[in-house]
Amino acid sequence: MRLIIQPDYERLSRWAADYVVARINAAAPTADKPFVLGLPTGSSPIGMYKELVKANKEGRVTFKHVLTFNMDEYVGLPEEHPESYHSFMKTNLFDHIDCPKENIHILNGNAPDLEAECAHYEQMIEEAGGIDLFLGGIGPDGHIAFNEPGSSLTSRTRQKTLTTDTRIANSRFFGGDPASVPAHALTVGVGTVMAAKEVLILCNGHNKARALQAAVEGPVTQMWTISVLQMHQHGIIVCDEAACEELRHGTYKYFKDIEREQL
Ligand code: GLP
Repeated sequence: MRLIIQPDYERLSRWAADYVVARINAAAPTADKPFVLGLPTGSSPIGMYKELVKANKEGRVTFKHVLTFNMDEYVGLPEEHPESYHSFMKTNLFDHIDCPKENIHILNGNAPDLEAECAHYEQMIEEAGGIDLFLGGIGPDGHIAFNEPGSSLTSRTRQKTLTTDTRIANSRFFGGDPASVPAHALTVGVGTVMAAKEVLILCNGHNKARALQAAVEGPVTQMWTISVLQMHQHGIIVCDEAACEELRHGTYKYFKDIEREQL
């Protein structure tokens, strides 16, 4: 695993966006061979999305031949609700870049048959040739996408019940009332993320320090689903200084040193 420690959120966001741009450009995608990108929501990726919009507007990258698959969506929340992940993605990314509508995939949390919706999503990912680069955030309890503590580490796209912790954490987007946060979500599985060729996780702020510690120094465990990234051959976490608070000094120093060597 690579752990990239950046001084602050702004630099973290820029690092992540530059990485995505470099990966897309290196792949030189075409209509026949598109680049497949997995995308997260949440506050963590907002800065990166701003940088990606800028890069697109400046002509440093095009999304014309990029297929996107979002990680998750609430169940039962209308798509046009301002807090749906459909709305989030439009507002923060899709309305501002040249990614064709038909290239965008987001789970439908209002599908009549949720199980079929999830199976179809997995099938579409497979037909696209798998995810080239899966981007993600981390919940304070170490969840990735909506794979809450206790989720199977080989899980695939399915419906999950959100924990009280997550509903409290996300209540800031729902007028501060945890009961207004939908109780269920559709989410790609831990196994879906792990099947990607590369995974890049964004982790910022003091409230993610325990999750980062578990991800980097802890054992692989279903109780911190992000910890399974330790098993990925091309897993990267980019974090800020604030998120490093719980890391051992030696761990912090090691990752700083090896990244310096790569410069
Ligand atoms: C939600 C999302 C996750 C995200 C997490 C952290 O639960 N389903 O994908 O990583 O929130 O969100 P934030 O980045 O706002 O801290």
